Amino acid sequence: MSCTFLDGKTKAIFCESIGNPLGNVVDFGPLAELAHSHGIPLIVDNTVPTPYLCRPFEHGTDIIVHSLTKYLGGHGNSIGGVIVDSGKFPWIEHQEKFSFLNKPDKSYHGVTYTETFGEAAYIARARVVPLRNTGAALSPFNAFLILQGIETLAVRMDRICENTLAVANQLKNNANVNWVQYAGLDDSSSKPLVDKYMGGRASGILSFGIKGGREAGAKFIDALQLVTRLVNIGDAKCLACHPATTTHRQLSPEELAKAGVSEDMVRLSIGLEHIDDILADVNQALAAAT
Ligand SMILES: Cc1ncc(COP(=O)(O)O)c(C=O)c1O
Repeated sequence: MSCTFLDGKTKAIFCESIGNPLGNVVDFGPLAELAHSHGIPLIVDNTVPTPYLCRPFEHGTDIIVHSLTKYLGGHGNSIGGVIVDSGKFPWIEHQEKFSFLNKPDKSYHGVTYTETFGEAAYIARARVVPLRNTGAALSPFNAFLILQGIETLAVRMDRICENTLAVANQLKNNANVNWVQYAGLDDSSSKPLVDKYMGGRASGILSFGIKGGREAGAKFIDALQLVTRLVNIGDAKCLACHPATTTHRQLSPEELAKAGVSEDMVRLSIGLEHIDDILADVNQALAAAT
């Protein structure tokens, strides 16, 4: 794989394993090889599939980040994030490019992270410099809520994947829907990558195009009764948002297109409710909006 975007100043490649809001899957194994051939690490945001469905370290990724606010916490009640370092990237072999890890750091007792911490150089610096400088430490109560959420991750993800596939299949057959994008559908262009990296299951984000465009999209989210109108993802509850009239409403139609957000696009984050209740609510809101 070659790439014209990388030059001598590039420090890392960053991607999402499943993209939010598009729900596309990135073929990050070859991206890791590309990054390494340029002497830089691959960082993967694995928030949407979670470690239960996808383990990017097994495909050459060097560093993984997660928003804990989403599926890991799982209840939309706390904000947090984690950086997980594989410890495998050879920072010491790229002294000039990563001088912050290879030269003495005056702000921390003159330590040279690669010498003092070895494989833990990157994550040790992440703790003692950016974390200290920004103060972005979890409160004890949020840490407790997130740890409790993680205890049920596996059962929540099983149910969420099952529910999301059922909603996607139902939407495909709804006359008020222009298109459905869910990487877990057999006819999705991302499905081969879902099979390769995620054991065939694609988590809980799906998007669809509603007939009637911007106006119908706004009416749809107003008409929902069970599904909550909220721009978070990964909650125990189903959430819906219409980006063109909410998160992206300041953009012109051209800017929306550039951001990959069409005026008819509705994003759903499917939760744990009974599938019959979810389908009934989505169907009645579609009927009311179109
Ligand atoms: C894939 C992904 N990563 C990271 C974030 C940022 O999460 P937080 O709000 O916890 O900072 C989001 C938020 O939408 C996301 O969807």
